[in-house]
Amino acid sequence: MTLISELTILQPADKEEVDLLHTSTDEPAIGKKRLYIESYGCQMNFADSEIVASVMRNAGFATTSSAEDADLIFLNTCAIRDNAEQKVRNRLKHLTGLKRQKPELLVGMLGCMAERLKTKLLEEEKVVDLVAGPDAYRDIPKLVEEAESGQKAVNVFLSREETYADIAPIRLNSNGVTAFVSIMRGCDNMCSFCVVPFTRGRERSRDPHSIVRECQDLLDQGYREVTLLGQNVDSYKWAENDAAPEAAPVTFANLLELVALIHPDLRVRFSTSHPKDITDDVLHTMARYDNICNYIHLPAQSGNSRVLKLMNRTYDRPWYEQKIHSIRRILGEDCGISTDMISGFCTETEEEHQDSLSLMDFVQYDYAYMFAYSERPGTLAAKKYADDIPEDVKKRRLNEIIAKQLSHSAARNQRHIGQVQRVLIEGPSKRSDAELCGRNDQNKMVVFPRGDWQKGQYVDVLVTECTSATLRGEVV
Ligand code: SAH
Ligand code: SF4
Ligand code: F3S
Repeated sequence: MTLISELTILQPADKEEVDLLHTSTDEPAIGKKRLYIESYGCQMNFADSEIVASVMRNAGFATTSSAEDADLIFLNTCAIRDNAEQKVRNRLKHLTGLKRQKPELLVGMLGCMAERLKTKLLEEEKVVDLVAGPDAYRDIPKLVEEAESGQKAVNVFLSREETYADIAPIRLNSNGVTAFVSIMRGCDNMCSFCVVPFTRGRERSRDPHSIVRECQDLLDQGYREVTLLGQNVDSYKWAENDAAPEAAPVTFANLLELVALIHPDLRVRFSTSHPKDITDDVLHTMARYDNICNYIHLPAQSGNSRVLKLMNRTYDRPWYEQKIHSIRRILGEDCGISTDMISGFCTETEEEHQDSLSLMDFVQYDYAYMFAYSERPGTLAAKKYADDIPEDVKKRRLNEIIAKQLSHSAARNQRHIGQVQRVLIEGPSKRSDAELCGRNDQNKMVVFPRGDWQKGQYVDVLVTECTSATLRGEVV
């Protein structure tokens, strides 16, 4: 789960660092209470904030982009690494100051850190008035009422069914061109380092009809790209129970096709694929449709089979390499591939770390999200293995991984020089209003002179130069 902005490409070490602030847009607020939402962590959380904004609009709240103006502040939190939680704790310190000036202000904690810490959060952080876990968002208006009456309010029940399928998200901070669409929730894998199964509960898939409808609505509103989101999209599965009990279930490959068929001008991306589950069927579906982007995020985590076993990833290095061969065979050398890598997992030796580097050499990733291992309370790894790699060693290994990735990204980007790339324009570039930017098929940011082009249009750009993060060129 990654990629929010141009900046996130190759911002190493810690993606929360860059994905952090996503405040809400301003809605007309006459006579309404104002809600400010800040999201941390992965795209799933950003998508969830849009569900929360929708629930809250129905309860009479309008979103605002200013925390200072808000009657209610929600932090939609992440628990994936310790530093993700520390960031939220620091933010709460600031909100304590704000609340001192404005005692009627309510502060709510949502998301994965809320789910992990539950009522403990209320004990530890006095500024917090309400706590809602990822499956409790329909209940938030009631929790707010309780909090308004002066009680602390909590709902952290995890559900086996909730997918928020019927809730139309309010697009926050949107460029009006690209949007995230959740297709499933939770995770049934038990990667030993990972807190997500504990914070998001059991895996469940969302009704494909509601997914297609949401994507169609986005197209009708002018959006031109959807990213289908799940912790492990390849295990998407929808069984049509009542209407056609004998029908085969809808798989991820089927769903991808359904969404691709909506319109050739609607691009489709997805994240995250799991190496143990990605099928040739998905790869062939990608190959069949021009509007399914040629890009796969396939987190390896480590290049060493023993470490992968300890991580409980359920594949080994030869299996992963086989998946890369399948991608190259079916989708060609140009298909973008990215990964997540963890340095310094429990008992990782220097040689095993070298295996991660050599896997990177083997694959030649286009991007990578790279992290030092951070032990999470309650996970299998925390229970079974000592977090025995010293911080400085984790950091040094991480830096080696980052340096390697920088050179691979630069080399992979170089390949595009001289090529004409189809780009979906997302808006002005970060640096200058005289330039526009958008992504190519492989998810690389391409910057070019503005001309008379508008966001939402597709243009063909001749790439003339690049860095490890961006391509530059001119429309031809
Ligand atoms: N579902 C996705 C990943 C979700 S979490 C998948 O299976 O790939 C995003 C990334 O955070 C993970 O891929 C992993 O690289 C990293 N991560 C998760 N737990 C971590 C931990 N305890 N310490 C460091 N990095 C971690
Ligand atoms: Fe975490 Fe593994 Fe599930 Fe990804 S697949 S969310 S890393 S448990
Ligand atoms: Fe996402 Fe962080 Fe939760 S990465 S699923 S918000 S723990």
